[in-house]
Amino acid sequence: MSIRTLDDLLAEGVSGRRVLVRADLNVPLDKQTGAITDDGRIRAVLPTLGALVEAGAKVVVCSHLGRPKGTPDPQFSLSPVAGRLGELLGAPVHFATDTVGESARSTVADLADGQVALLENLRFNAGETSKDEAERGAFADQLAAFGDAYVDDAFGAVHRKHASVFDVPARLPHVAGRLVLREVEVLSKLTGDPGRPYVVVLGGSKVSDKLAVIEALLPTVDRLLIGGGMCFTFLKAQGLEVGTSLLEKDMVETCRNLLERSGGKIMLPVDVVVADAFAPDAAHDTVRVDGIPSHRLGLDVGPETVAGFSAALSQAKTIFWNGPMGVFEMAAFAAGTRGVAEAITKADAFSVVGGGDSAAAVRALGLDESSFGHISTGGGASLEYLEGKTLPGIAALEN
Ligand code: 3PG
Ligand code: MG
Repeated sequence: MSIRTLDDLLAEGVSGRRVLVRADLNVPLDKQTGAITDDGRIRAVLPTLGALVEAGAKVVVCSHLGRPKGTPDPQFSLSPVAGRLGELLGAPVHFATDTVGESARSTVADLADGQVALLENLRFNAGETSKDEAERGAFADQLAAFGDAYVDDAFGAVHRKHASVFDVPARLPHVAGRLVLREVEVLSKLTGDPGRPYVVVLGGSKVSDKLAVIEALLPTVDRLLIGGGMCFTFLKAQGLEVGTSLLEKDMVETCRNLLERSGGKIMLPVDVVVADAFAPDAAHDTVRVDGIPSHRLGLDVGPETVAGFSAALSQAKTIFWNGPMGVFEMAAFAAGTRGVAEAITKADAFSVVGGGDSAAAVRALGLDESSFGHISTGGGASLEYLEGKTLPGIAALEN
């Protein structure tokens, strides 16, 4: 891989130089209080930021948060992230209340060597995500004016062809940060020559989101375990009734076709936890998948399924997991996700957890993060990497 790295940049010397760092500080926020509920993505970028601070750079960090529509929207402000980042770095982070306007210009101009600034949400500007090259380019020009060099450490966003990810590196000397390097290094082990059996666990709500990765993985994996909301479309494809469970009707035929072509590699739940409603206190029971009542909906996989998945995982030498097995945010429907996660930690395998949700689940369930081989900060990004797609943010670093 012909990508220059942070170490190359540090070797040139960055003292007194402005270094623009694209980070993915898109952290989950509590809907009521706005508090950060999982700061994993902020922690993940500390090695890069710390090294730059230590080397005396003027560090200008930029990121998106959520999906605001190209104009300022206070609920998506990065201001709380600036506070948390400052706590973790042990030094105040100078927060600009706009991205490329007056506040950003003066904040960057006032930085002393070894200080860190955070710009306001990139997506408060239509140019960031625009499909129009010229509009993106004009925004990239403004961003690039804040740096003498560019570091991409936003692994979670490398699959986005956005100004800060794709167009800025065309305008500045550019390198990959520590997080991006580590993520690519780990994921390339999975696409290269994984130790076998190679077992993939997929969950989450939508088959349509995972279709491309299922197609890409089927020929290479030994086992594909499917849980989460998307398992019901597969169960329906097997001719079972799924009650009021999540169902993508227009995907049933596709799932049937995948099952036929899978050569028995796909493993589906044999029992599920069904409830009267999508609510933490809803009445619920475990039933066999051929006995889902018509008025109830499945919110987790059942204990027999966990046992079967665990047995498959215990044989594995390589494991990739993306997507929760059930509604783990509700205690009554967390056992499937917890059980599968525990089986992964117990397996004598190289294990990778992909995705914002699954990574957050690991931490929310209080599991030991160090018992996984690697916890990726990228959901969509890690899936697209495994699909073998060209990732715009990585391609931009290669040039
Ligand atoms: C993510 O959370 O998946 C990344 O931060 C990318 O965000 P996006 O899906 O809104 O582009
Ligand atoms: Mg996403």
